[in-house]
This record gives sequence, structure tokens and C-alpha cells, in this order.
Amino acid sequence: MARIGGPFLTPPSGRLPDPGRRAVPGASQRSNIPAFQVMRITDEIARRRAAGHDVVSLCAGEPSARPAPGTITAAGYTGPLGTTPLREAIARHYRTWYDTEVDPGHIAVTTGSSGAFQLAFLAAFDPGDRVALASPGYPAYRNILTALGVQVIEIATGIDTRYQPTPELLDRAVEAHGPLAGLIIASPANPTGTMLGRAELTALVEWCRAHGTRFVSDEIYHGITFPNPGDADPRGVTVAQLDPEAIVINSFSKYWGMTGWRLGWAVLPESLVAPFEALASNFALSPPAPAQELALTAFTDDTYAERDAIVAGFARARALILDAVPQLGWGEAAPADGAFYYYSELGPMLDRYGSATAYAKALLEGADVAVVPGVDFDPIAGDQAVRLSYAAGESAVAEALERIIRFQTR
Ligand SMILES: Cc1ncc(COP(=O)(O)O)c(C=O)c1O
Repeated sequence: MARIGGPFLTPPSGRLPDPGRRAVPGASQRSNIPAFQVMRITDEIARRRAAGHDVVSLCAGEPSARPAPGTITAAGYTGPLGTTPLREAIARHYRTWYDTEVDPGHIAVTTGSSGAFQLAFLAAFDPGDRVALASPGYPAYRNILTALGVQVIEIATGIDTRYQPTPELLDRAVEAHGPLAGLIIASPANPTGTMLGRAELTALVEWCRAHGTRFVSDEIYHGITFPNPGDADPRGVTVAQLDPEAIVINSFSKYWGMTGWRLGWAVLPESLVAPFEALASNFALSPPAPAQELALTAFTDDTYAERDAIVAGFARARALILDAVPQLGWGEAAPADGAFYYYSELGPMLDRYGSATAYAKALLEGADVAVVPGVDFDPIAGDQAVRLSYAAGESAVAEALERIIRFQTR
């Protein structure tokens, strides 16, 4: 760290006189990452609604049912890793859902899972490290890593592996690019909704163990699952149970519907707790206190029952989509195991419109239905697929499907 000049380098006014001003550098190289297209579509939806259109949106990845805050008193800073009662409550959640012991001292509460990703990537990876992830996948992993100077290794996946990496695909990635410092897996995934079973996740954990690769598990969609009766892992399999060196990330945004409260967490391996805390205390100071107070109510039997009723609503909306597949007449789709997404190739509609972006635009302008083209999630092959979010609920999904089918047969 360099220290130059004395106290008068900056004039007392804090402003430099203009004539002496040299051109400042432009934006950093690292900020040269794409924006999230979903947000652009959200703007377009707002414009159309303001112009009087009745738009049905299957874009947003958030439940509309949100918890009521009640009376919240906390508003000051907390410790950088969150309050002790919340970290203990999260540890209890692992006991309740997964029958797994997690040390509350290894839990870091963060500003959404987004905050957890930034701090976890900073704590675990150096510039130039290689980190693998599935394509299609959630774009922020790729973009945050890129901004941090980490080399992203995209594993092209398809229906044959449920759009998830496999040990064989990772072997091929190492052959092509060299050793991997990290692997990011989401199960259920965004945009595909696909999940990995215990055996497949264990095989990936074993691969990482054998290759000195850090496993990062995004479990944000756990609980938004549609298990069969008797399923051994109805909420999803937590990697916290499989690998003490893994970083497990989760959030209050999806199952609990607390998107705007900006609260998530990471379960950290012993060796990353202190580095993560040092980073958190500088980058964020503390996670938001009011959100942490509200989150204390997340793990009661009543809240689980309330949220499970909302998931049951997602299940009904999902069934509507799956029933309509023959009438939609699109191409191959990812198995909609969990989360609230249906990701499908457009098939014949691609021939008609040329790209998913053009199809989505025509659908919005012609039928006032908003869907997301896959380019955000897979810049190479994604413009042949669309993602429908059924978080909008049963009636919105029913209306949207009717409009889509009418639009396509016009
Ligand atoms: C797979 C996945 N991970 C993480 C996030 C980030 O969510 P948040 O920062 O609200 O926890 C999202 C949001 O859509 C997501 O889809």
C-alpha cells in the first residue's frame, strides 16, 4: 500500500481547481460485464403497464406472497457475520430440514445470497484462478467472478445431464483449460429448475475432493421442490452434509419470499471463517439489522407451514404448464424438478421468429405476455430457449398460457 503526499495534497475545500485537472481514467476493465436482461424486460413491462396494457409477466424470479414485517426495532449495525440468535436459528434449520449439525460459528449472514457470493468468491479465489459452472446458469456467478478477475470455465450442459455438470464433463474441462480452483453448482438451478440427487452430488463432491477444487453450492431454491411421497431428501440435498470444505450459500429471498429484505447466508469451512469475516467487516460492515430481526421468525412451524402452502401453489402453476406442453408445441425442455422455472427450447417457434429474443419481443407486443429469452443464462445457445417463471401463481400462469397458445395459432 502506498502513501503519498502530506495533508495539503487535497485543498481544504476538497475540490481541485479545474485548470489543473487531468482526464480521469474511464470505467474499470473489471466493470465491463453484461447487465441482467431480465431487469431490462422488467422496465419494458412497467412502460407497457403505464401505457394501459394488461401485461402478464412470467419473468420475475420472486414469489409475490411476502411475510408481513410486524414491529421491528433493530436498526443499528450488528456483528459482521450477523446476530448470534439468527446464526443459531439457521443452524437449527439445518437440523430440522436435513438432520445435520452445522456450527453457528461457521454461518455468515449476508446481504442476500448475492452478498454471500461476492464475499465467498473473494475469500476463496484469487485473480487468474479457474472456476467452473454450468451453462445455462445464473448469470451473476459468471459476472461477479469476471469482475473479480477469476477465469470462468463454462461447462456446456444439455438435457442428457439434466443441464448439470458431471465428473466426466469436469475431466474434459480440466483437460482443455487446466486445474479448477472452484466449482459452482445450483440444485434446483436457475434457469432450468433441474436438481441433482444425493448420488450425483456426492460424485461431484468426490471429484472436487480428488482434484483440490472448492465446491460452492447454491441452495437458494431448497424447499421449492416437488417431491414424491417417501422421497428421502424432500427439501433438496445440502452439501453441508457431504463436504466440510464446501461453501454452502442460501437466502431468505425465495422459499421465504423476502427478496427486498436482502438477506442470505453462507455456511463456511473452518479455514474461510476468519477471511470471510475480515472481508465482510470491510465490504458490508454488517448485514441489515431489520431484516435479521424479521428472519428470526422464519424457522417456526407456522412459518414453514405458511411457506409450504405457497410452494403448493407453485406446484399447481407448474402442473398447468406441464399439462400445456403439447399445445405450446415448443422443443425439448429441462425437467422442472424444483425452483419455479420452466426452461424450454422453442423448437418450431425458433424457425418462425429466428431467436428467443425476437420471439419474446413479439409475444410481449402481440399478446402482452412477458417471458425471458435464455441469452442471459447462456450467451451461446440460450437464444433458442425461453424461461417461464411460475412464481407469478396459478391464475397468472393460466392466463399467460391461454394467451401464448392463442398468439401462436394466429
Ligand atoms: C440461483 C440464484 N442464486 C442467487 C440469486 C440471488 O438472490 P438473492 O441475492 O436475493 O439472495 C438468485 C436470484 O434470482 C438466483 O436465481
